[in-house]
Amino acid sequence: MKYAKTLTDFILEEERNFKEATGSFSLLMLYIEQAAKVIASHVGRSGLVDIIGASGYKNQSNDDVQKLDIFANTALTESIRASKQAGLIASEEMESALITNEKNAKYAVFFDPLDGSSNIDVNISIGTIFSIYRMNERALQKGIKQIAAGYIIYGPSIMFVYTCENKVHGFTYDPSIGSFLLSHENIRTPEKGNIYSINEAYYNTFPQYIQKYVQYAKKTDMKLRYVGSMVSDVHRTLLKGGVFMYPQDTRSPDGKLRLMYEVNPMALIMQNAGGMAVCESSSPLLIQPTHLHERQPLLIGSTQNVKDILSFI
Ligand code: AHG
Ligand code: MN
Ligand code: MN
Repeated sequence: MKYAKTLTDFILEEERNFKEATGSFSLLMLYIEQAAKVIASHVGRSGLVDIIGASGYKNQSNDDVQKLDIFANTALTESIRASKQAGLIASEEMESALITNEKNAKYAVFFDPLDGSSNIDVNISIGTIFSIYRMNERALQKGIKQIAAGYIIYGPSIMFVYTCENKVHGFTYDPSIGSFLLSHENIRTPEKGNIYSINEAYYNTFPQYIQKYVQYAKKTDMKLRYVGSMVSDVHRTLLKGGVFMYPQDTRSPDGKLRLMYEVNPMALIMQNAGGMAVCESSSPLLIQPTHLHERQPLLIGSTQNVKDILSFI
């Protein structure tokens, strides 16, 4: 069998390519990797341990919080804190950002601890999304300032996908050795794909250009796929091409997805894989966020598919 590089090796090797590296970024990534393994292990046993079901709380975005949301949030927060490399930690599940006491910490980390919460109880792929910035006097920075972003998908296999330095790499978990192994080096998304992904039940509330695109798609050889976990829908789009849409609609004028935890990290990953992401017509990465839990509409995927949608505006 070919020797497969572990995520840990890979992170340390990347660090050696940087003369100025102090090891701080690698350390942070290794702690995120560790939290991912802990969350993955609980997701894998979710029917057996007391982790499924609602917690009885609602979060900042008025979503029902699941027990696994809380577990994943605690696992990530504690792990990132333990790394001592983050000065600010912000999560979809926490009302305000946590300012740590690490005075010299260089990084700010934002995450959606558990994406696709409504799929937990029915054994459908879910995920975790993270985004890393350099510390700045401004807590909310534009997405373009992200120095790394990634996601973990808990599916038939568990994968850790991340982008740094304009490249996107994917690692698949091998439970027999407890490591993520490099399985998808330098992911490039197809220029065009034949899958569109949108919650079409909301069709009547969509803006006209989205309705027109959906009608157009039905006249072509395109297929529809919609998991309802953004990580899974974007992961498929990244590998197979096509487009994932969560537009604004008359119920939610800014869409549903959160800029800091979902839209920006996925936009950076897609862009660095050669794809495209837009909020209405320009890149989400250029938006100056105004609040922690702000939402933005999103069209993301193969460049040609995104351009096809924009042609209906
Ligand atoms: P979360 O579980 O982190 O709150 O995110 C759920 C999001 C996203 O994963 C998915 O794309 C979207 O909600 C699905 O929303 P609809 O049920 O409105 O289609
Ligand atoms: Mn989410
Ligand atoms: Mn979530």
